Amino acid sequence: MGEKWVLMKTAQTPTNIAVIKYWGKRDETLILPVNDSISVTLDPAHLCTTTTVAVSPAFQQDRMWLNGKEISLSGGRYQNCLREIRKRAREVENKEKGIKIEKEDWEKLHLHIASYNNFPTAAGLASSAAGFACLVFALAKLMNVEEDESQLSAIARQGSGSACRSLFGGFVKWIMGKEEDGSDSLAVQLVDEKHWDDLFIIIAVVSSRQKETSSTSGMRESVETSLLLQHRAKEVVPKRTLQMEEAIKNRDFASFAKLTCADSNQFHAVCLDTSPPIFYMNDTSHRIISHVEKWNRSEGSPQVAYTFDAGPNAVLIARDRKAAAQLLKRLLFSFPPNSDADLDSYIIGDKTILKEAG
Ligand code: ADP
Ligand code: DP6
Ligand code: CO
Repeated sequence: MGEKWVLMKTAQTPTNIAVIKYWGKRDETLILPVNDSISVTLDPAHLCTTTTVAVSPAFQQDRMWLNGKEISLSGGRYQNCLREIRKRAREVENKEKGIKIEKEDWEKLHLHIASYNNFPTAAGLASSAAGFACLVFALAKLMNVEEDESQLSAIARQGSGSACRSLFGGFVKWIMGKEEDGSDSLAVQLVDEKHWDDLFIIIAVVSSRQKETSSTSGMRESVETSLLLQHRAKEVVPKRTLQMEEAIKNRDFASFAKLTCADSNQFHAVCLDTSPPIFYMNDTSHRIISHVEKWNRSEGSPQVAYTFDAGPNAVLIARDRKAAAQLLKRLLFSFPPNSDADLDSYIIGDKTILKEAG
């Protein structure tokens, strides 16, 4: 190995939004959940992370920059991901640059990592999901790791639980697993992105500000104090997951919408059942729910499903393009961006309407 080289890889990974929510861990270090969850992976053009990983003998230590600012890698989650990937690193040869890295060299070589999210970080749009999935994927490419997506998902899971679902497109299930070492807690693809391509997603960015309670500490407090969480994990989610899988397989929108909305509402009920209570949704979020509920009822069958992660932002899933157009018209009328502080922006199909600064 010469001293003057740098080898780089860049990856791009979309975020995912859960329609059956993960909320609660049975193991904090390995990140093992108390229930299965199901998500839909979003269009990478609008919500994705881009991460470049670089290795060079000139680097003195592992370092990482997130959205241009250096962050500490000392947290257990980053260390766990780096360790698990390094363990699986293989020989890499780049003849063009005259570089050969032996398997053992990876233990001594240091990494520089630069990551950007093209959407708000830590605002309840699953930046930790896209972020850790992208980190693990980019490192696996750089180090010539052989593992398939499901095996990589079990590594990304140790960065952030929801990240394990971002290594696949389409609808994805995170199987909670039974093993104590977490080896069977991983993601599988239920159907690919082509299976149900009528669906249209509009995100109402109610606020792009960083949330007060991170998902990690919020769910820890819920596990410690909410009885509803225990009931949800044991009695509700196992049945609901099966029903959701059926709805997705059959492209049954009425059932899909009913389950998605119910699960989002129960997750926020668990937050309210936590002591002290956690409020991720705000008044605008509640008004959006009422609006969609009323509209769905007046149409006789659901046109739109709503779901909110740990933040006030609405992810609206319309049954088709026509329903999406109507939804957008309604939203722009009732919740105009750019008018007051009620709503920031919309992320729609291939367009983003941003609120002007100031
Ligand atoms: P969110 O709802 O956005 O997922 P979380 O509270 O779950 O919010 O996680 C936010 C944290 O995820 C950030 O503070 C940061 O530590 C981590 N994160 C976000 N984006 C990235 C990224 N691109 N690469 C690595 N880590 C990231
Ligand atoms: C509400 O995956 O962000 O978005 O595992 O502690 O990093 P950690 O939490 P995170 O939690 C996501 C919670 C959720 C629901 C979901 O994505 O399933
Ligand atoms: Co998150």
